[in-house]
Amino acid sequence: MKNSRISRRQMMAASSVGVLASCAGWPLSSFGLSVRSENELALLGGRPIRTKGWPEWPVWDKNIEPKIADMYRTGNWYRNTGKYCEEFESRYAKLVGAKHCLATASGTTALTIALHASGVDAGDEVLVSPFTFIATYNVVFNAKALPVFVDSDPETFLLDPAKIEEKITERTTAILPVHIYGLPCDMDAINSIAKKYHLKVVEDACQAWSAKYRGKNAGMLGDLGCFSFQNSKHLPAGEGGAIVGNDEKVMDFCRSYHDCGRHHGSIRSASKYPIRGNNYRMQHVQALILMSQLERFETDAELREQHAAYLDSKLKGIPGIIPYKPVPGAEKAAFHLYPFRYRKEDFNNISKETFIKALRAEGIPVRPGYGRQNKDGLIEEALRSRGYRRLFGTRRLNKWRDENHLPGNDQLVEEAVTLYQNVLLTTKNDMDDVVNAIAKVYENRSRLESK
Ligand SMILES: Cc1ncc(COP(=O)(O)O)c(C=O)c1O
Repeated sequence: MKNSRISRRQMMAASSVGVLASCAGWPLSSFGLSVRSENELALLGGRPIRTKGWPEWPVWDKNIEPKIADMYRTGNWYRNTGKYCEEFESRYAKLVGAKHCLATASGTTALTIALHASGVDAGDEVLVSPFTFIATYNVVFNAKALPVFVDSDPETFLLDPAKIEEKITERTTAILPVHIYGLPCDMDAINSIAKKYHLKVVEDACQAWSAKYRGKNAGMLGDLGCFSFQNSKHLPAGEGGAIVGNDEKVMDFCRSYHDCGRHHGSIRSASKYPIRGNNYRMQHVQALILMSQLERFETDAELREQHAAYLDSKLKGIPGIIPYKPVPGAEKAAFHLYPFRYRKEDFNNISKETFIKALRAEGIPVRPGYGRQNKDGLIEEALRSRGYRRLFGTRRLNKWRDENHLPGNDQLVEEAVTLYQNVLLTTKNDMDDVVNAIAKVYENRSRLESK
């Protein structure tokens, strides 16, 4: 029974790579792969598929050095006296098709500002994706609001819009969808629910710089969009972030709030500080680095997309390896990481941990996706605090705990595996190393202990 299922999948894989004629010794040959089956797994002492390294990240550019030195010598390092942050803002606004962009100290600060500008206040509830980095819900806690997790769709890796409405209460003020790994969320569905319940939509586009959905860039699909330029990101500057939007007044508010509440644009009054604020400013050195990184950004994005499509086409033929499914309307993903799901049932029940170890031993840098963030320790720490008990009351907090079950997300956490983005910045032959290594582990699955 099992064999016949595998053969059918192999046939599909083989036809997708056009090597059906060479299916002499299955299974690797039927994937169009070059691994010799007598080659022992590297984890068990065999020769690894790849001994060569992968490109370094981030990539630095010598041309930027004189500009950084000049800026340094002027002493104009502070955002409000120099010019580079503004220059970067106008370039980034153009890149994503926004009327306005505000550069910030980080993605976390961008999200904090955007939530405040969207009216999220103490005692409110914000609907968030659970398959994400902690910053997405830390910023909700920073606003003294309650993050309410909406289950993920394991097939898309994204917030499942069908699970949103059941989580809305009279306190819900905003939805914070995350385009995780740069995969665009189902924004039509999210926006239509937001409209129905008068909610704001703040996009966590911190990993989605070049992603596109129905002709628009990620970050421009809700009310405000937030990006990160932390060192691992596709536009890296050590730290950095940005908010984009088209509403001038809201963006003026963001600008004032990020600058200690100072006057900016339409945010004026007799006082020099018309609103509450904080210091979330970017520095010029970050802006200069970012502008140098913009030079390579689009070429890199194209290469990642091309190689991700190539991997999809090959990997979908290996039993137990499931590439992500794009939502309707998704036109381009950024692939901050390249994600796929690993179904251990097809791999002799070897754990994901062992699968990852085996691939790393073959020279392929993979890692698991996010953990069960909805059970993160920091959440209980917040919920038990005096402030949260006062703001929400024990009954609401207990209800939150009772309802904190996300079966779709649990499955995704179990199965998600990711490949580092710099791996995609290579050649088709290098992509074959990835495919060959996964196929080699598959072929040798019975040699690994199942758990
Ligand atoms: C999905 C997501 N949201 C928010 C952030 C926060 O960005 P930063 O690290 O720039 O504060 C990150 C950064 O890793 C992220 O990946």
